[in-house]
Amino acid sequence: MKAIVVTDQAAGTAGMTLVERPEPQAAINDVVVQVYASGFVNTELGWPSTLTDRLDRDRTPSIPGHELAGVVTALGYGTTGLSIGQRVFGLTDWYRDGTLAEYAAVEARNLAPLPGDVDFTVGASLPISGLTAWQGLIVHGRLQPGQRVIAHGAAGAVGSMVTQLAREFGAYVIGTGRAADRQPALGFGANEFVDLDNDSLEDVGQVDLVFDLIGGDIGKRSACLVRAGGTLVSIVGPSEARPVDGLAVDFVVESDRAQLGEIVQRVRDGRLRTHIGTVAPLDDAVAAFNPTERRPGKTIIRVRQ
Ligand SMILES: NC(=O)c1ccc[n+]([C@@H]2O[C@H](COP(=O)([O-])OP(=O)(O)OC[C@H]3O[C@@H](n4cnc5c(N)ncnc54)[C@H](OP(=O)(O)O)[C@@H]3O)[C@@H](O)[C@H]2O)c1
Repeated sequence: MKAIVVTDQAAGTAGMTLVERPEPQAAINDVVVQVYASGFVNTELGWPSTLTDRLDRDRTPSIPGHELAGVVTALGYGTTGLSIGQRVFGLTDWYRDGTLAEYAAVEARNLAPLPGDVDFTVGASLPISGLTAWQGLIVHGRLQPGQRVIAHGAAGAVGSMVTQLAREFGAYVIGTGRAADRQPALGFGANEFVDLDNDSLEDVGQVDLVFDLIGGDIGKRSACLVRAGGTLVSIVGPSEARPVDGLAVDFVVESDRAQLGEIVQRVRDGRLRTHIGTVAPLDDAVAAFNPTERRPGKTIIRVRQ
C-alpha cells in the first residue's frame, strides 16, 4: 500500500516521504480500515509517540496521522461491534502506525459508525478537534449553562468546535485569536472576540472556564481570569500558572465511541460545522502539509475517492 512515513524529527513535515509499505494485519480486537480520508495535526512530528513505542524504542519509519474515515475491510480475532463493509471514523492509537496510508489497523473501540450521509472528508476532520473540545468542556471543564467561557484560538480547528459546543450548552463565549480571526470566530458563535495582538485579554473580566490551546504567556494571563471554583483546561501541557482558587487540568484527547456519535449527529443536523481547508490526495500530502502560504482550516488528505 501507499503510505506517508516519517524518519527524521528535525526535518519536520518537509521530511515526510511517500513510500510502499505492507498492508497492516488485524490483531486481537482490531479492524483493518481502508482509509478514504485522513487527518493530521502538524505538531505530530514533535510528539514522542510519533517516533518511539511505549518503551521508548525507535519505531521509525512510522506512519503519522491519527484521524480517519473509511470502510472496514477485515476483523481481528475476537473483534465485535463493527462489521466488514461498515463506514467508520475515529481516532487511532498515538503509538501505532497511523492513517496517512491506504489501510490502517485500529482497535475497534476507537472507532464509531460514520452515517452514510456524512462525507468521509468531513468524518476525518472530526475526531481530534471534536473529541478534544467535548472532553475539555464537558468532561474536564464540567461546563454548566450560563457560564462564561474563554475559547482561545476560536477560529482554529479545536477552538471552532469549542466555541460551537460551548454555545450549544448555554455558555457565554469569549473567542480569541488574531485580528483576521474575528469574523470566523463570531461566525462559529462567539458572543464577543478578543484580538490577542491588539486588545487587552484582562478586559473580559472573570470567567468560569478557560479553554487554552495557546499556552505560554496567554495561558498564564488566562489563569488570573478564572473565578473561584472555575477551571483552566489546557491542551498544550500543564499550565505555567494555576487559578488562585480553581482547578487547572491538562489532558490528551482519548477516543470515545459515544462522544464520536454525539459529535457526528450534531454535524448531521447542522448544529456543528467543521472548518476544512485544503483537501489533497495522498500523493500530494507532503506538499499540502508544507504550504508556501498560510491556509486557514484543517488539511484533510483524501486517500481514496
Ligand atoms: N492535548 C490534546 O489532546 C490536543 C488535541 C488537539 C490539539 N492539541 C494542540 O492544540 C493546539 C491547537 O490545535 P488546533 O488544531 O486547534 O490548531 P489551529 O487550527 O492552528 O488553531 C489554533 C488557533 O489559535 C491561534 N493562535 C495560536 N497562537 C496564538 C496567539 N499567540 N495569538 C493569537 N492567536 C493564536 C491560531 O492562529 P495562527 O494560526 O495565526 O497562529 C489558530 O487560529 C496545537 O498545539 C495542538 O497540538 C492538543
